[in-house]
This record gives sequence, C-alpha cells and structure tokens, in this order.
Amino acid sequence: MKGVLFDLDGVITDTAKFHFKAWSKLAKDKLDVDLPASFETELKGVSRIDSMNKIIEFSGKQADFSEAEVAEMAAAKNDFYLKEIDKLTQKDILPGIENLLDALSANNILLSIASASKNAPFILKKLGLFERFDAIANPENVEHGKPAPDIFIEAANQIHVDPRECVGLEDAVAGVQAINDAKAVSVGIGNAEELNQADVVVKSTADLSYMLLDQAYGEHRK
Ligand code: G6P
Ligand code: MG
Repeated sequence: MKGVLFDLDGVITDTAKFHFKAWSKLAKDKLDVDLPASFETELKGVSRIDSMNKIIEFSGKQADFSEAEVAEMAAAKNDFYLKEIDKLTQKDILPGIENLLDALSANNILLSIASASKNAPFILKKLGLFERFDAIANPENVEHGKPAPDIFIEAANQIHVDPRECVGLEDAVAGVQAINDAKAVSVGIGNAEELNQADVVVKSTADLSYMLLDQAYGEHRK
C-alpha cells in the first residue's frame, strides 16, 4: 500500500447534516417543498448540480427553470452551506481520523482527497487538516462524478501512485463502487449490508487503523 484515498464528507467530518439543512432551506424558499429526511442519505456523494436537479425533479417543477436559474439556485444553496460550515473546528474531525493520519504518515503512505465537494480545501482548513494531505483532487477536473471512478483515479494520479497500490475510504455506496472501478481496495464505513460491495467494512471511523488498511490491502489488492 502506497497511498490512501479519502472521501471527505462522512469520512473525515460529518457535513451531510449541513448539506441537508442548506438544501432544505433552498427547497422551501425557492420551490416551496419540504424535503423528506431520506434526502440526507440520497444526496451523499452526489455533486452540487446533480443534487439540485434531483431536488427540482422531486418538486415536479422542472419546466419552470432555465439552466441558468438552476445554477443560480445551486449557488444560493452553497451560500447557506458556507455559513453553516464556517463553524467547523478541529473538534468536528470524526473519531480516529487524526490517529489514522499520524500512523499512515509515519509509515510513509501518501494521502490524497477524493471528494466531490468543491469546498474540500475550505473544509480541511477549518478542521486544521489542510497541511496533512499530499494532494486534493479537484472535482472540476474530472468528467464523471461518483459512482464513476474518475475522482479516485485523479486523487491517485495527484500523488503519482497507481490506484492499484491504494486503499480508498468511503461512506457512500456510489463511492465504494467508484473505488472498486478505480481498482483500488475499498474500505466502507457504515452499515455492512448497505456497503456490501466494499472489500472490507467497518462500523465507524474509530475502527480504522494503519494495520486494518494494510491488511485489507494485502488481502484484496487487485
Ligand atoms: C459531497 C457530499 C454531497 C455534495 C457534494 C458536492 O460528495 O456528500 O452531498 O453535494 O460533495 O459538494 P459541494 O461542497 O461542492 O457543494
Ligand atoms: Mg461521503
């Protein structure tokens, strides 16, 4: 194992609740609909514009908006979201993550971010983790979002490592598929049934360790 590719939202910090709060406000203000709680999981790993389109589809008002208006609404959501995540601090790093980063770096493993979020650099700075990563893949430079493997391949390229020499960490089903199709070893974090396509699943970020990742790599490398 030469590199570890990290999803951000739900792996390093829990931003799903802030995304959902911002989308809910946007949906109420601009589309006059209440989003069901299930949207919080449904939008995990889905890009900003694709999330916007899913919500418009849910409201049944597709015919009412031009492409420019859709982009404007997505930008308004991001403004709410930025206000929410401005409160993030080091305390919002998920359990076990700082220890994991220490152990990986001590073993000369390169660390790269493979997130669909254009706010990843801002979030990592808020958490005090920006300097800890060797690279952050830019989602604007990849053609297809998760479940396509593009962002994980880009994250591996950024650290000059073959994805086959990497382990990827994900909390979303689409993300696990993306890691598998990038030919890296996938470690899912969350419900084992839901993430059954992952090579290895742990319940929580607190269960992650250098040993676990190294062993997963040894057993499941492609
Ligand atoms: C992550 C989140 C999604 C979010 C996407 C884009 O994948 O799980 O909920 O829509 O990033 O985030 P952004 O910060 O660019 O709007
Ligand atoms: Mg995630």
